[in-house]
Amino acid sequence: MILHKLPRRRYIHGATPIEFLKNLTQQLEGPQIFMKRDDLLGLTGGGNKTRKLEFLVADALAEGADTLITCGAVQSNHCRLTLSAAKKEQLSCHLVLEERVKDSYHPEANGNIFLFHLLGADSITVVPGKSDMLHEMEKVANEVRKRGKRPYIIPGGGSNEIGAAGYTACAHEITAQIYEKSLTFDCIVCASGSAGTHAGLLVGMHSNSHHIPVIGVSTGRSKTDQEKIVYNLANKTAEHLKLKSFISPDSVHVEDDYIGQGYSLPTDEMRQAVSLLAKTEGILLDPVYTGKTMAGLIDLVQKGMFKKSDNILFLHTGGSPALYANTSLFTERGNNHCQNKD
Ligand SMILES: Cc1ncc(COP(=O)(O)O)c(C=O)c1O
Repeated sequence: MILHKLPRRRYIHGATPIEFLKNLTQQLEGPQIFMKRDDLLGLTGGGNKTRKLEFLVADALAEGADTLITCGAVQSNHCRLTLSAAKKEQLSCHLVLEERVKDSYHPEANGNIFLFHLLGADSITVVPGKSDMLHEMEKVANEVRKRGKRPYIIPGGGSNEIGAAGYTACAHEITAQIYEKSLTFDCIVCASGSAGTHAGLLVGMHSNSHHIPVIGVSTGRSKTDQEKIVYNLANKTAEHLKLKSFISPDSVHVEDDYIGQGYSLPTDEMRQAVSLLAKTEGILLDPVYTGKTMAGLIDLVQKGMFKKSDNILFLHTGGSPALYANTSLFTERGNNHCQNKD
């Protein structure tokens, strides 16, 4: 394992806390639910991409890049954090946004779109859903090169083997906290989107003595498709880190019952989970990833997937800035909106 030898920038100031969610645990009547607070990571607004960007931006700088180009959905947390890292490193940054839901990009919108403007993206290109995002980013890169600059393309979600290493490092951080605080965990639950978080965690848990199972809650793809993507990325990451053994397909576990009508489209259960966490623990989730993932965890608890004595670690991957672009979902109007949809 060569994780410690890879070029890495530091945007994290110490381990993120692991917090026992006493009120939520009581409300659900066990198992014990803990939360890894990656929503409190560094860079603007925190969240999981900060860990990936430590490795991705270091790689960009090692290649002599002066410009970052990345892509995401119109309310992309990954784009916000890449832009934030670019500002810290004094790099230029261009964003390509995919309108996965038709007409969903409004330049005056709140949430991450507001932050793209405030942080000062050098350009924002909006393309239709299902565009070839790599090709779209290459087009921007060609323009940047024509101006004599050196672009570095970061894939969507920062999810290649370089970025996923950030979550291998996170798994090692969790292991250190387990020793320090005499904790035990029977399972980790995280959102599974572009898959770098899920894959990186699997590699980290595989490469240390704590083989804690990881359940990924899909935010868009079917179980079969997502498990394939996680499996491939986990093994590419293991290879990148020069691990001696590989991840087996049986260790990849995805639940796909919590997506609703599609990526980023609200569900009643997501709304209830976001409200519950706010009201019981004072913790903000987000409507696209952690809200649906928490809805999944609650449902799995209610279906009896875990023993009452189990300790479950929910990975809070951030995203709360997107709440401010979706406030109507959490008001009476939003309640009706969701109920009418079902
Ligand atoms: C807040 C948040 N949580 C979870 C995820 C999913 O992580 P990954 O893309 O590594 O699967 C994302 C992806 O954008 C995210 O923004």
